[in-house]
Amino acid sequence: MINRRKYSIANFKMNKVESETTDFVNKLNNLINRKTKIKSIICPPFTSLHATLLTDKVSIGAQNINSNDFGAYTGEISAKMIKNLNVDYVIIGHSERREYFKETNQEINKKVEIALKYDLKPILCIGETLEQRKNNEVEKTLKKQLSKCLLGIEHDIIIAYEPIWAIGTGETATSKIITEAHQMIRKILNDIGFDGQKISILYGGSVNRNNAKELIALDDVDGFLIGGASLDVNHFYDIYKFIEESF
Ligand code: PGA
Repeated sequence: MINRRKYSIANFKMNKVESETTDFVNKLNNLINRKTKIKSIICPPFTSLHATLLTDKVSIGAQNINSNDFGAYTGEISAKMIKNLNVDYVIIGHSERREYFKETNQEINKKVEIALKYDLKPILCIGETLEQRKNNEVEKTLKKQLSKCLLGIEHDIIIAYEPIWAIGTGETATSKIITEAHQMIRKILNDIGFDGQKISILYGGSVNRNNAKELIALDDVDGFLIGGASLDVNHFYDIYKFIEESF
């Protein structure tokens, strides 16, 4: 069995001012064991990114970047700017960005490309709507998202499978659904030129301390992208511990 890297990633979304992020990071720093085998990444809003420099036990991720290198894009933040803050990861193509900011697979592809240019590791989010699931279109949807978002990309990325109907709803996908989807994703990755067995695939969608233990035990789950439950440091740490104990 291939030993893929395991991740515990917090997506704060549009929550926490700088002092709150600092407080979170200080507390997490005290909780985390230095010799941890898993990679913990905090993705706060842009305004709190530098607060996460306080620790060397967790890595930092941004929640988004612009798809262009630089230029007249008022209000936007570039990959180069993020990298300059010692950020190593970036969430790309989150379903909230696809839905509210109309991001297309083509734009997401440009973002993956520019992230890699500046040595940021993309955490690419994919996943189906409830309607697509009901219409038996999960495979078709994932295939389309992966082939378009990763067009021309050769570097390894991290994938987060986040079924849209499970995000922020309290309705976690079942173990069966997650296993099927992650295996499907590995196969699609193989088909488009990656080694699917080597790529870490995380699950996201209402992960919490009550379901994390069961879900991390699944062979094809290499960690979590956690929204709501990541806002409380003790809750996030409980999930982190389940991942750590799963080895
Ligand atoms: P959730 O969000 O854990 O609140 O469902 C996950 C995500 O959007 O990444």
